[in-house]
Amino acid sequence: MMIAIPGVLNPTQLQRVCKILSGAPFVDGKLSAGNAASRVKNNLEVARDAMELDSLNDVVMNSLVRHPVYRAAALPLRVAAPYYARYTPGMTYGEHVDDPIMGVDGMPYRCDVAITLFLSHTSDYDGGELAVHTPFGLQLVKLPAGDAILYPASSLHQVTPVTRGERMVAVTWLQSAVRDPAQRELLYELHLAREQLMHTAPDAVETAQVNRSYVNLVRMWSDV
Ligand code: NI
Repeated sequence: MMIAIPGVLNPTQLQRVCKILSGAPFVDGKLSAGNAASRVKNNLEVARDAMELDSLNDVVMNSLVRHPVYRAAALPLRVAAPYYARYTPGMTYGEHVDDPIMGVDGMPYRCDVAITLFLSHTSDYDGGELAVHTPFGLQLVKLPAGDAILYPASSLHQVTPVTRGERMVAVTWLQSAVRDPAQRELLYELHLAREQLMHTAPDAVETAQVNRSYVNLVRMWSDV
């Protein structure tokens, strides 16, 4: 399941993040890549010891983890601090699959869902699409600044070469409380129906039944 999350950052937050990033130290992205990924990774990332990370993460993660679409679609159990990546012309991240377990030097977590938060305006660069192989073919994703895309970390994906301008993104991953992507997708659909029913028929018996089914399916399928 791929889901776009609109408006993770509002224009003020976006401006703040971009301002902090403009003064942050960037290093070769290969430093944070696993063996296989480092062969195809060609970008820059904010250094992991940069003092700017705390204030960046405050803005980005506070907004992301509170976003109702993110919460309902991902059912996050463990979330990671993002990487902030910059791609200038010629830079790319070739086809790869994300590591299954991340955070090994701290709190390990299974990497179920990948998230890319777009920080540059689409008019500010050419190329730089996130290209994800799905059962329905290759999906090319380039979203407005402040929006995010959620996609399976298990998918083969790449960032196509940037040919003009600068592409800035925050990327992060999470372990979901529900391991099976198909179950997560069913839960998300049921959640949408539940939300709609709670809005249109808050006192109906059916609303309570759908709500109870949703809640108890999460209980049944979550591996916390
Ligand atoms: Ni990746």
